[in-house]
Amino acid sequence: MTALIYGAYGYTGERIAREAVDRGLDVILAGRNGTKTRGLAIQLGVDSRVFAVGAARSHLDGIDVVLNCAGPFVETAKPMVAACLATGTDYLDITGEIPVFETLAERDRDAEDAGVCLLPGVGFDVVPTDCLAAHLHDRLPEATHLRLGIDAPGSVSGGTLATAIGQLDTGGMVRRDGRLTSEPSGSRTRTIDFGSGPKHALGAPMGDVSTAYYTTGIENVEVYLSAPEYAEYLLRAGHYLTPLLAVPPVKNGLQALARALVSGPAEQARDRDRVSLWGEATDGERTATARLQTPETYALTVDAATTALERVEDDADITGYQTPATAFGPDYVLELDGVDGFLDE
Ligand SMILES: NC(=O)c1ccc[n+]([C@@H]2O[C@H](COP(=O)([O-])OP(=O)(O)OC[C@H]3O[C@@H](n4cnc5c(N)ncnc54)[C@H](OP(=O)(O)O)[C@@H]3O)[C@@H](O)[C@H]2O)c1
Repeated sequence: MTALIYGAYGYTGERIAREAVDRGLDVILAGRNGTKTRGLAIQLGVDSRVFAVGAARSHLDGIDVVLNCAGPFVETAKPMVAACLATGTDYLDITGEIPVFETLAERDRDAEDAGVCLLPGVGFDVVPTDCLAAHLHDRLPEATHLRLGIDAPGSVSGGTLATAIGQLDTGGMVRRDGRLTSEPSGSRTRTIDFGSGPKHALGAPMGDVSTAYYTTGIENVEVYLSAPEYAEYLLRAGHYLTPLLAVPPVKNGLQALARALVSGPAEQARDRDRVSLWGEATDGERTATARLQTPETYALTVDAATTALERVEDDADITGYQTPATAFGPDYVLELDGVDGFLDE
């Protein structure tokens, strides 16, 4: 089985490419910049292909599965998925973007017909929270409301920041009665005990607002990120600036600045930091709560994405639109290095 890693020379893609080669997977590296793609492939001793994502269809000969690491995925997922459906190639990515999950879910039937899987979100966002959601649903199948929380220290890569800037003008998002519902940024807060006492947390439009619904069928989903109280006021004040972010030159300029100035977490932080996750499912009468601890977000992403590649290569029966937990089960996250859970209440 041959996997093609697209966006292989980015901060996250390169780490996944190195891990995949270390694990002995048969990989070909790809990207739109010839010098960077070939340079990394030569270093790792593997083949490479250079192409713009819009031309992917004619570059997937002999490829069984694509792992797309080129984000923002609102720009790259659609053309890469179209190429995968046309060529019978499985598609995985590391997006956390709600519109991308929704677009791919709409192509479920096309993927079934083509006999391939569409499995977005095989990084930190959404593997651990998706598995936590599935675990809570197993414990309380009648649940009508699901809340998930993430307490993650540390910094992000330029690509992640650029992707986040791309989504800022859409504000907050929750799922209500099965529908995605917008709300102003910073308008939803909660106090969450991630395991070491109460912490202030803010509602955030994380990928689970989309995926947890497909994984569990629970129609009301909220996701929170731990944040200091002043973040709430900053976000509310920033709300008045969001129309500016809808202006393409402003958004593009900020994204370019993020890519140029932000280098991503250093190795020490990736090895050291831990992330705490919390989830609660309720049917109005009963409540199930569980916690989970994982390695730092990029370290977890590298392990989870590479392991997902291995699993999809091993299992031809995974077809159609999938979330990590529908593809591999709720305990998938527990197979990854350094994950502690589920701690049930
Ligand atoms: N799910 C998760 O938990 C998780 C974890 C880590 C990262 N991510 C996401 O993964 C993405 C990449 O992050 P990163 O840290 O690797 O960022 P990065 O260092 O900026 O790398 C981005 C890569 O994508 C390529 N790319 C971007 N837009 C492209 C396009 N339109 N066509 C072709 N290639 C394109 C870039 O190529 P050029 O340099 O040529 O532009 C580069 O190779 C971000 O969206 C980030 O949010 C998600």
